[in-house]
Amino acid sequence: MAQIRVANPASIGEGELQVLAEGLLLLRYQGQLHCIENKCGHFGVPLADGELRDGAIVCRHHGISFCLSSGEVVNRPWENCDRLRVYPVSESADAALIDLG
Ligand code: FES
Repeated sequence: MAQIRVANPASIGEGELQVLAEGLLLLRYQGQLHCIENKCGHFGVPLADGELRDGAIVCRHHGISFCLSSGEVVNRPWENCDRLRVYPVSESADAALIDLG
């Protein structure tokens, strides 16, 4: 099982997003860390400048929202949009472990 280890997860504050080299985004929403792919399911643009709202990340390009927990599209103003890949994260005091499956 492949895992990524990120040190010092407490440095990611509420509402902050951290771009990981593996094409992933690690972010904190309502106290919980989430890991999603850093690629919009619509045109593939990075989501690092997206807005966190109502348990979702909103792509700034066309406003599609993706659930942080499931990766599913929450609204569908556009056709031809894939869901995001999401990855389980476990957090301890000194590290976050991201399970790549
Ligand atoms: S590129 Fe993200 S919503 Fe269109």
